[in-house]
Amino acid sequence: MNSPTELASPIAVDIYRTRRERVLAALRARGGGVAIVQTAPEVMRNRDTDYPFRHDSYFYYLTGFNEPEATLVLNASAKPGEAASILFCREKNAERETWEGFRFGPEAARDAFGLDAALPIGALGEEMPRLIADKPALHYALGTSAELDAQVREWLAAVRAQGRTGVRAPAKAEHLLPILDEMRLVKDEHEIAIMRRAASISAEAHRRAMRATRPGMREYEIEAELLYTFRRQGAQAPAYGSIVAAGANACVLHYPAGNAIAREGDLVLIDAACELDGYASDITRTYPASGRFTPAQRELYDVVLAAQAAAVDATRPGVTFDAPHQAALKVLSQGLLDTGVLDKSKSGGVDDVLAQRAYAPFYMHRTGHWIGMDVHDAGEYREADGPLDEQGALPWRMLVPGMALTVEPGLYVRPAENVPEKYWNIGIRIEDDAVVTQNGCELLTREVPVLADEIEALMRESND
Ligand code: GLY
Ligand code: MN
Ligand code: MN
Repeated sequence: MNSPTELASPIAVDIYRTRRERVLAALRARGGGVAIVQTAPEVMRNRDTDYPFRHDSYFYYLTGFNEPEATLVLNASAKPGEAASILFCREKNAERETWEGFRFGPEAARDAFGLDAALPIGALGEEMPRLIADKPALHYALGTSAELDAQVREWLAAVRAQGRTGVRAPAKAEHLLPILDEMRLVKDEHEIAIMRRAASISAEAHRRAMRATRPGMREYEIEAELLYTFRRQGAQAPAYGSIVAAGANACVLHYPAGNAIAREGDLVLIDAACELDGYASDITRTYPASGRFTPAQRELYDVVLAAQAAAVDATRPGVTFDAPHQAALKVLSQGLLDTGVLDKSKSGGVDDVLAQRAYAPFYMHRTGHWIGMDVHDAGEYREADGPLDEQGALPWRMLVPGMALTVEPGLYVRPAENVPEKYWNIGIRIEDDAVVTQNGCELLTREVPVLADEIEALMRESND
């Protein structure tokens, strides 16, 4: 386990402290109580071997602490002089540190991460009944972890067991995550700065993969170029399983990089990006294995690119989360008609294609999702109230500056009798990460070419 002092970004103690204070203020406004946020469990992969540990995003958002076996307790009913932010973490242990590496231990963690108090994780069971006694409410991730649910039961039982001494157990449990989701949805400058760096590393990885690709290479060889750059540039891990899909595999949306050979005439779709210091990036590019698009590939590529440009234009404050999707759908639907992938004589005009969802066999996913600590990040996509639409759904969320989302239209054409054969097995997606600004959006991931001509030029350079 790295000490966080070795992360690319220094520990932003004040930022994490301010976030905890915002949560405490929100809890006080709800009448107080105690919040509990645990980091992720370590998970065994197979005998003696764990999956690489990755902190819980909510816990990390409030602490910046990335050791396993840690719990944050926020006491929103703390009396003056009492600790409001308490970290439980592993104790120093010379022997374990010889095997597993550095641990802060409670005292150093308290100082380095700006907490009011820190205690050994082993003391959690003993301390919690005392901390929650006589508090009005518990706030935690309700129903997300059987282990936490069981611990809460034990702590409550321990308080109730002392009932005759006059202490009371909290009378209610409330879901904590909606408060944190709302906070995480709007990124601060500290977060955006890390996301820019993550995006830049991922863009470099895509450039490297494009340059390295030759007909005859296998998908996993191309994946290796991406992974090399992620680690070479200090990213801790891929943000999600890398998709490297040659030829027809590009029509499988979650295809993991496999053994298939990228042949002359194939497109290669790469959807891969790194996680840096707890923040994801998410990039897709689609390019010809040979370095030259065929005319049919180029036609569809330019439709997807135009759809993305329309969606990027619609990514700005004051419109809904759905606006970029609707903008992309319109351009894709028109493109399906113009190219003849959809038969005009049967499909009617673009309004009919949209109304009938005739685009759906070729475009079956949405145009974006929130991105941040998690690649599919926290945050509601609908407003909490407002007039219901025809389907009975709440209004889509309005975009505001600081929200981060992907813009990722695509087209996926499987062989079908009524579709011209030249388009069969072409799968294209173009994906960039955007942060909503005061008057539009900033694209974080454009250090990798996206225009077909620019992709061909980059690949020509490396073939010379
Ligand atoms: N890479 C996952 C996604 O694009 O949503
Ligand atoms: Mn995505
Ligand atoms: Mn993606």
